[in-house]
Amino acid sequence: MSIRALILGASGYGGGELLRLLAGHPEVSSLRGVSRNHASKPFHLVHPNLRGLLEGTFDATPDWAWLAQSEHPVCFAAMPHGELAKQLPTLESAWAEAGLTDRLTLIDLSGDFRLADAEAFAKHYGQSHPNPAGLGTFTYGLADAFPEAVQGQRRIANPGCFATALQLGLRPLAGLAIPHVSAFAITGSSGSGMAPSETTHHPTRATDFRAYKALVHQHQGEVEQLCSQLGMDTTVAFIPHSAPIVRGIFATLQFQLPEGVDGVGLQQRIQEAYAGRPFVRLVEGSPKVAAATGSNFVDIGFAVEGREAAIFVALDNLLKGMAGQAVQNMNLALGLSEKAGLWFAGGYPG
Ligand SMILES: NC(=O)c1ccc[n+]([C@@H]2O[C@H](COP(=O)([O-])OP(=O)(O)OC[C@H]3O[C@@H](n4cnc5c(N)ncnc54)[C@H](OP(=O)(O)O)[C@@H]3O)[C@@H](O)[C@H]2O)c1
Repeated sequence: MSIRALILGASGYGGGELLRLLAGHPEVSSLRGVSRNHASKPFHLVHPNLRGLLEGTFDATPDWAWLAQSEHPVCFAAMPHGELAKQLPTLESAWAEAGLTDRLTLIDLSGDFRLADAEAFAKHYGQSHPNPAGLGTFTYGLADAFPEAVQGQRRIANPGCFATALQLGLRPLAGLAIPHVSAFAITGSSGSGMAPSETTHHPTRATDFRAYKALVHQHQGEVEQLCSQLGMDTTVAFIPHSAPIVRGIFATLQFQLPEGVDGVGLQQRIQEAYAGRPFVRLVEGSPKVAAATGSNFVDIGFAVEGREAAIFVALDNLLKGMAGQAVQNMNLALGLSEKAGLWFAGGYPG
């Protein structure tokens, strides 16, 4: 297969990881990246890790005619929340003109189309949706849990980073009577993107630890959507924290097991939920963030003492929580091996 891929928002952290992954992907023949602020600059001036690995420069605007020359055109949107939703009508006209309408595989890394209805979007994002007509036209791509849903799809909403961790932790609990889960999770500073802010600036972050958006983080909406889809009568109280690391998410989901389920039963459920899923690794006890970062793997562990139980999830927010899962979704959508371009471990320690 000879894929051409075009990245909108290629100068950001997600865009950089997409460029890195796609440059090494065996089925991607050619690659372009759009940046308004770095147009004409070589990729490696913004992403220095790509020096010598990926030639080329950022484009000021997307070249849809170039993308349309491919039998397998793929566009990744790695722009801030709201941008793709706003730009979609204009993009659709451009795609029609280029003959891409029915052929383009579009994968959005933002939160614009992850929720299926406008009411849920307004509740969790605190604003009305910029393009409600587009809601429901994207397939939610939680690749490790529901790969079949993505196969053959042309529009995919890539899950949020925290949402990926929480949902992959919750998935094995479907069908159990668990009324409440407390979710404590931490993220590294790269989760907020490239533009520095008070919460991501190194001096204010490197020696600090704090909760933020407690009980109201926007990824709660994706978690509620999953619980509803799986018929889970479970409330999830989610408290995110900023940790003094750059990459990585670690989530602890704490709950009480129902009568009749013990540690062996919980382990079986996790194994069954992810049987044959190449990127999900069941570990003993607690996973390590540093063992998951730099890779598309998600590591899951658990602890049980009597009725008290916890599931632990560790992943890389920029890979499994973003660009890695997006490439995995591309592989699934196009019928490629899921592992293509993604079958490597990160360095350890991270
Ligand atoms: N960081 C994470 O861990 C993570 C995880 C999952 C999902 N996400 C989501 O993925 C998306 C990208 O995140 P990121 O961390 O890569 O962000 P980022 O580092 O801030 O990069 C975003 C890029 O989008 C471009 N951009 C900004 N405004 C734009 C506009 N109005 N039109 C077109 N392009 C614009 C910028 O490039 P130019 O200014 O050069 O054009 C920028 O490089 C966001 O929606 C984010 O919420 C992030």
